[in-house]
Amino acid sequence: MSPSICSLPVVSGLSLVVLLFSVTSFPSCLSDRVTEFALTKKEESDLKEQNKEEVVRVEEEDLDPEDMEVFYPTHQWQTVRPGQAVPAGLHVQLNLQTGERLARLPDNNDEKSDVKDTSKNKRLGPIDLDPSSFTTQELKKALAKMKESVKSDDMLEQKAHQEDVRRRFRPIEKLKEEFRELNMQLETDFEIMFKLINRFNSTTSTLEEKIAALYDLEYYVHQVDNAKDLLSLGGLQLLINGLNSTEPLLKEYSSFVLGAALSSNPRVQVAAVDGGALQKLLVVLATDQSLAVKKKALFALSSMLRNFPYAQQQFLRLGGLQILRDLCTEKGTETLHVRIVTLLYDLIIERLLLKESQDDDELLQEKTQQYHQVNLTPAITEQGWCTIISNLLKLPEHDTREKVLKTVHVLLAFCRDNYKGDHGLNHTLRLLRQEYEELAAEEQKEGDEDGYFKELLSSINSIAQQLK
Ligand SMILES: *[C@@H]1O[C@H](CO)[C@@H](O)[C@H](O)[C@H]1NC(C)=O
Ligand SMILES: *[C@@H]1O[C@H](CO)[C@@H](O)[C@H](O)[C@H]1NC(C)=O
Ligand SMILES: *[C@@H]1O[C@H](CO)[C@@H](O)[C@H](O)[C@H]1NC(C)=O
Repeated sequence: MSPSICSLPVVSGLSLVVLLFSVTSFPSCLSDRVTEFALTKKEESDLKEQNKEEVVRVEEEDLDPEDMEVFYPTHQWQTVRPGQAVPAGLHVQLNLQTGERLARLPDNNDEKSDVKDTSKNKRLGPIDLDPSSFTTQELKKALAKMKESVKSDDMLEQKAHQEDVRRRFRPIEKLKEEFRELNMQLETDFEIMFKLINRFNSTTSTLEEKIAALYDLEYYVHQVDNAKDLLSLGGLQLLINGLNSTEPLLKEYSSFVLGAALSSNPRVQVAAVDGGALQKLLVVLATDQSLAVKKKALFALSSMLRNFPYAQQQFLRLGGLQILRDLCTEKGTETLHVRIVTLLYDLIIERLLLKESQDDDELLQEKTQQYHQVNLTPAITEQGWCTIISNLLKLPEHDTREKVLKTVHVLLAFCRDNYKGDHGLNHTLRLLRQEYEELAAEEQKEGDEDGYFKELLSSINSIAQQLK
């Protein structure tokens, strides 16, 4: 069915896959690191021709799809592109021959009936998890869980699977031999990153080579420790400098790598703010740039702000919210609008979750203190975000509406006065209700009791109810 060597449930994130593999050392999966090297090396050794191709390919498949950073799983195997974050609980496979990673939703018992639901699954469930939000602690937990599950009832399945893998794939000795033939040495992540950073920084590198180096680097910095090495190698400042390069592609790819390195990595977040990344990202977002550049800058900005009140405070102080608002009222940048709304939603929710938390340890109090200095919600209401956001309900995509509805829902606490007498909103909600009543009815006819559309409908009803 599929050309893979390893198949196991995985926690999250491409690099986490690698991390877990290398720590737990599944006997059948021993060489995915190795493959990674092999690929990197191949690109290096085939030099310019290949590099050029690589850049062209990257531009085609990478700059366009709006949801580059999140992988939308279905029950079918799909290729995971570099840089995509894989939600928790998926089956992930690595094809040793091509280095391609594939992922899909885990099997249910009723795989057949699930097939027709894939379109809905795309928008549901696991994608809500923010895969970048894994802490070391959670990682360790996940690791422990994996070990457990290997020990316990998965044992038989695991065995059978290993046999299967062994039959189908080249044994490691064979692989090693091939590596030797290619005259390759295994390198550590640190060494590879050192080379990539140097290539990016070198005055003799062509633009293509620099972009290719950034593209590869992005893969490595997802891993927390690698991102710290990026810092100690001086790579972070180089990336920050790249943000105001005169070359749009360098702006874009520097943002891309920064976004990955910043994700849930407090040390990098602090260093990036101190290194002036915030100002530069805001300049990118406020000036005339291509959509592709802005997308990646917004990605980096989001990674910087999430769970980091200090950066949020600076962001407000620098007028960041106004810059996002201007973007949000621009025509033709709807994909950005949705991402901005999602960011605001996340920022509001992270504050609310903090308040709910009963824990009274010192660190948390410190954090609560910091959040108190971030006047996010007053700024949101004062700047007219209530209406800007509710207007986005008019966009046609279901998953956009889902995100906007969620946001309107949390905004009700702050935007009630704006929303109560808003005839436009009343009208929009009525139209949406009609549409989703029909879709939900169809869904139910097909036997789906707790369907996606029913969920959207109840969200609409709940908002309307609270506005009465
Ligand atoms: C980048 O290159 C410059 C000059 O070539 C050098 O001084 C600097 O140390 C390099 N930075 C890094 C992080 O390698
Ligand atoms: C980028 O910004 C730095 C200061 O933050 C400045 O020294 C440098 O000249 C700028 N580069 C370009 C290409 O504008
Ligand atoms: C929306 O408009 C309808 C009439 O068209 C009215 O009955 C209803 O109360 C309004 N709801 C809100 C929340 O304003």
